[in-house]
This record gives sequence, C-alpha cells and structure tokens, in this order.
Amino acid sequence: TKAPVTVTVTGAAGQIGYALLFRIASGQLIDAETPIKLRLLEIPQAVKAAEGTAMELDDCAFPLLESIDITDDARTAFDGTNVALLVGARPRAKGMERGDLLEANGGIFKPQGEAINAGAADDVRVLVVGNPANTNALIAQAHAPDVPAERFTAMTRLDHNRAQTQLAQKLGVSVTDIRKLTIWGNHSATQYPDLFHAEVGGKIAAEQVEQSWLADEFIPTVAKRGAAIIDARGASSAASAANAAIDHVHTWVNGTPEGDWTSAGVVSDGSYGVPEGLISSFPVTARDGKFEIVQGLEIDEFSRERIDASVAELTEERDTVRKLGLI
Ligand code: NAI
Repeated sequence: TKAPVTVTVTGAAGQIGYALLFRIASGQLIDAETPIKLRLLEIPQAVKAAEGTAMELDDCAFPLLESIDITDDARTAFDGTNVALLVGARPRAKGMERGDLLEANGGIFKPQGEAINAGAADDVRVLVVGNPANTNALIAQAHAPDVPAERFTAMTRLDHNRAQTQLAQKLGVSVTDIRKLTIWGNHSATQYPDLFHAEVGGKIAAEQVEQSWLADEFIPTVAKRGAAIIDARGASSAASAANAAIDHVHTWVNGTPEGDWTSAGVVSDGSYGVPEGLISSFPVTARDGKFEIVQGLEIDEFSRERIDASVAELTEERDTVRKLGLI
C-alpha cells in the first residue's frame, strides 16, 4: 500500500467543504490506493459543525480514511500537510468595496501562508478556492518564502469545466471530444475562455461556431455562470466547485493526457505578457507532479484584448494588497 497523504481543508464546515470531504475520503483526490489523513480547519464558531461532518465521514467507513483532526489553529492544521485546499474565505458583504474585501481576506490568507511556510511537508501543494482566489493565493504565497512559489495555485478549473460543457452542448459532441480549452486571467467576470486554441475532433473550436455565439453567448455564459447558479439555486456553486478542486489536484498529481492541457491559476513566469509573479490562469500541462505553462501559442487581437483586461484586473488587485501591506 502507498504512504498516506495529509490533506488540509479550510472552511471545512461550509457548503463546498461538505461536497468536497467525502470525495477526498473516498479516494478521488489522489488515487484509489492512497490512504488519507484529513485535517479540517475552521473558525471557532464553526468547529462544532465541522465535527458533525466528521461524524458523517466516520459513518461512511471509507477504507482509505486513516484519521480526521479538527482544529481552529492554522499551525496545527498545516503541520506536515501534503495538500492544502484553502476553501474558507471572507465573502463580500453588502456595500463592501474591493479593498475591504481584499483586506478581510488578507487577514485569513496571510496567517495561513505563514503556517504553511512554518510546518507543511516539503512537497506541499496548495490550491486556493476561496475568493478572490487568485489574489488570496498571491497573499498566501507571499508569506511562504521557503515554499517554492509554484506550489501555490488558484482554482479556475470550474470555469474550464463550465466552458467545456457549454461548447460540447453547442456542437452536440461529448465533453471528451474537446481538447486544449483555456481559461486565461482572473477567476472573475473578466476571465477569458479561449476557443481559438481549443480543438474538437482535431479542428479548431472557434472555427466551428459562429463568431457572434462565441463573443456574445459563450464568453459571458461561462464568465457569469456563478451568478446564474446563485439565481437558480439560491446558493452559490458548491458540488461543482468541489468537483473542480478534486480535478485540479488529481491532474496536478497524476498529469494531463498527451495532446491536451487544462487551466489553472499559477504563478506567471512572464509568459504571454502576464507580469511575472501574478497568479493568473493559463493553459497548463502537468507532468511529474508539476504544472507547466504551455508555451508558444499565438494570441490574436481578439484574445489579446481580453487576456489583457483580465490581467489588468489582477494587477490592480495586487497593487491594492501591496498598498494595504498584505504582501
Ligand atoms: P461557505 O460560506 O458555505 O463556507 C465557508 C466556510 O469557511 C465557513 O464554514 C466559514 O466558517 C469558513 N471560514 C471562514 N474563515 C475561515 C478561516 N479563517 N479559516 C478556516 N475556515 C474559515 O462558502 P462556500 O460556498 O463553501 O465557498 C467557499 C469559498 O469558495 C467562497 O469564497 C466562494 O466564493 C469560493 N468559491 C470559489 C470558486 C472558484 O471557482 N474558485 C467557486 C465557488 C466558490
């Protein structure tokens, strides 16, 4: 049998936590042979609810689940952790400005970055789900100088998966017929889902749909899907977000298939004009447990404009957290 992997989930008592923990414990995060040690981090008021979820995890008798520890202390939660899923975040309250939101989240992601730096395992991988995910990831990364920067990532896999299904439904094909989709930029309404490099049946996707559908339906539908889910469900995406978190880590560890890639918010190396150090979504492959930004794609004017707009938003967020002294 394989060595156990310690997985820390923050915001464990929240709705994504509830959809995520059972899938991790059942063996879907890494593989079906790796035992899992769960660490749940919550704020003190929500520890009891997390304990309730842990009782249900016990009641599943998952063969791979070795232990569950629940804490409200970040140092304890991240001590020796191999995979850190940072889900808990401060939601935007009514009338909150973006600066206030970033400041409130800085109060969460700064100490969590420090705790990861202090005690996480050498191979730690961090996925930030809690919004604003890219900039929260940047804050945590900035406070973990001893951890290689590329271990900090932000989730755009949900956007990627959403784009995949929208395109598959439009063309009447299976999601498995689609390759090389990309979400560029920020996990926000400015994100750019790119069909100019995506392939369906080996042919460029953008050439198989009307330009008007691409510009006026596809892009806004993907970018505003989160709001549409809230409208319909009366609550934000939870199971699909948890699914995307599972996909992100599973791909990171196990790799992307030959001839395909995925999307993830990763630290920019300056590729495609994205300022170095920003955590922005790119087309990425995963090999040997590492994400790599796909190089050398040609970016036409239509895509350039949209990538630049989303990256400008990320730059602004970074400037704001700098001014606030959070990085
Ligand atoms: P939720 O409100 O149901 O749960 C959040 C949980 O985090 C709560 O239980 C809360 O007590 C906990 N929490 C707050 N501060 C914490 C801290 N400092 N340490 C540990 N736990 C803490 O929210 P939900 O629906 O589970 O969503 C979580 C986050 O994921 C939100 O920020 C949401 O915007 C984001 N999200 C991101 C997506 C993406 O694609 N990147 C998609 C969907 C949601």
